Amino acid sequence: MILQILLFLLLVAAASSATLITHPPGPYDTFYNTVQLTDTPRLDPFSPNPTNRTILTSTFIPTYSTASASVTPLTLSTCPRLSHLSFNYPLLIFSPGLSTTRLLYNILAQAIASEGYIVLSIDYPYDIEILEFPNGNIIPSLDLTDTQIPLGVQTRARDISFIIDQLSTPSGLSMLLGLPNCKVEWLRTERVGVYGHSLGDAAAAEAMRLDSRIVAGINLDGTMFAPVIETGLHNQSFLLFEHENKTQDTDSTWKEFWGNTRGGWKVELELKGAQYYTFSDLPVLLEVLGVDVEGLPGVEGSIGRLEGQRVVDIIRGIVGVFFGVGLGGDPEVRIIAL
Ligand SMILES: *[C@@H]1O[C@H](CO)[C@@H](O)[C@H](O)[C@H]1NC(C)=O
Ligand SMILES: *[C@@H]1O[C@H](CO)[C@@H](O)[C@H](O)[C@H]1NC(C)=O
Ligand SMILES: *[C@@H]1O[C@H](CO)[C@@H](O)[C@H](O)[C@H]1NC(C)=O
Repeated sequence: MILQILLFLLLVAAASSATLITHPPGPYDTFYNTVQLTDTPRLDPFSPNPTNRTILTSTFIPTYSTASASVTPLTLSTCPRLSHLSFNYPLLIFSPGLSTTRLLYNILAQAIASEGYIVLSIDYPYDIEILEFPNGNIIPSLDLTDTQIPLGVQTRARDISFIIDQLSTPSGLSMLLGLPNCKVEWLRTERVGVYGHSLGDAAAAEAMRLDSRIVAGINLDGTMFAPVIETGLHNQSFLLFEHENKTQDTDSTWKEFWGNTRGGWKVELELKGAQYYTFSDLPVLLEVLGVDVEGLPGVEGSIGRLEGQRVVDIIRGIVGVFFGVGLGGDPEVRIIAL
């Protein structure tokens, strides 16, 4: 409920003014693109009629030149000049929380991309509130029940591997980047990172269990699901990054996962002052749009008490450094003052 109220307040604030989100903080600017992709002949297990599984993606690519592009009612600074694009950056795939659109993590994704990563985020049909495809197809949420959620996690994990497959071929890569006329021949897909918020984290961990091309992953505030909590991960790096007082002692799925995870580099961090939606764009959006949530019940328990821009700096810093090491120390790891 509090999420709906906050989103409503954000929409009202965004509609009343054209707001340019602050420039991405890292050394790079970013190119942005959205593409719909169908995995044939895999059928969507949630579709009432036989339908090939179709997902919607956003891609952020580091670049050196800036222009503005409209993304939502809000405007991100992005670069449409293809000649400035290079694909010699590690690939990160992001999976959002249950019922939550990838667009609610755009500022974070862009900030992470500005550290020198290609970041691709995914929206899953039947899982988010409403998914509107560029071709006009609209898919409402199925409101997954507890018994459907494991299938949701499996399906998301397969979507992540499908994306890596696509990015491994020149034609799939140029289609996914929305650059059909651009000669794009190569992107590193043999050492990929994934990160996810909430259920997206469970999907990220499951994708890692199934796909050895994923060598590092981050759980942002998510409970985990079997089978990966029982099998653990091996020879892959993993970071648990959680809100205040959420630890292995308060979430038994992490304790089990952690104990069964061996051979890789594993790290657990707790962010003081953070809550569940700290790991989204909500704190910075509320700040940038000047939405007054003072006194609104449930806000602190939902987004925490950290300043929005500081949240972006902390998350991009930790995610950037973790993947810098976890994906093999290239690009160079820079120490970011937090
Ligand atoms: C899925 O895609 C394949 C290949 O394009 C097509 O032959 C098939 O009819 C599609 N299935 C459905 C149910 O649309
Ligand atoms: C976290 O736990 C500490 C110690 O029990 C407590 O003082 C603090 O209020 C808790 N924080 C939150 C956000 O619940
Ligand atoms: C994983 O690492 C362990 C040592 O930590 C090693 O014995 C094992 O062969 C590795 N497995 C794979 C699949 O690389």
